[in-house]
Amino acid sequence: MAGRPVRPNGQPQPSKVCQFKLVLLGESAVGKSSLVLRFVKGQFHEYQESTIGAAFLTQSVCLDDTTVKFEIWDTAGQERYHSLAPMYYRGAQAAIVVFDITNTETFGRAKTWVKELQRQASPNIVIALAGNKADLSAKRAVEYEEAQAYADDNSLLFMETSAKTAMNVNDLFLAIAKKLPKSEPQAGAGGVAGRGSRAGVDLNQPSQANKSQCCGN
Ligand code: GTP
Ligand code: MG
Repeated sequence: MAGRPVRPNGQPQPSKVCQFKLVLLGESAVGKSSLVLRFVKGQFHEYQESTIGAAFLTQSVCLDDTTVKFEIWDTAGQERYHSLAPMYYRGAQAAIVVFDITNTETFGRAKTWVKELQRQASPNIVIALAGNKADLSAKRAVEYEEAQAYADDNSLLFMETSAKTAMNVNDLFLAIAKKLPKSEPQAGAGGVAGRGSRAGVDLNQPSQANKSQCCGN
């Protein structure tokens, strides 16, 4: 395409950068932080510490001529943090609801999160369901077909993942990036709680202000 910047290796340079707020939800210990750590840093910790409150990280993926930058809120799954969750999913354009394929209860909890998102998050939110710890399939308690059927019924993306082996981790974020709208200005992404709330803003985190547009060039 004429006029498009070209990298030294001859590949065209992405010409558009889009930022999206993405939240991870799910029962404690299903592997939310591990999935983020794998996606952002390519690492896995056997003894990952349980998250307190939430953690914020960013990572980008390239899709054709677009760089999709994810602003990731990794929430804490312990029940005592449940009331904080709306601060993180409000204004989010994407959510990954995670369960552990070796634990049926976590699948039930994931369904409850999906319902809460369907009722209270942005109507256009892209929701992905991740059946994590796929490397432990010998201890499987949730059948792939059951989760896939639930995802189909609720129009969710679904993949089984393993933060440990990296299986499907990048692919999941890429699939979400593909589903997100790249042309219109993005609402939301405004701070920890989206626009209009000051609760819980972490001043150590990069400012979210003025970053909510899907900007060309
Ligand atoms: P909270 O922060 O308490 O909500 O938990 P979390 O969902 O962030 O889980 P975390 O990433 O802390 O992982 C919990 C435990 O599961 C850790 O010991 C991880 O090493 C382990 N784990 C995470 N993902 C995988 C995986 O894909 N396979 C296996 N075998 N273990 C995993
Ligand atoms: Mg965590």
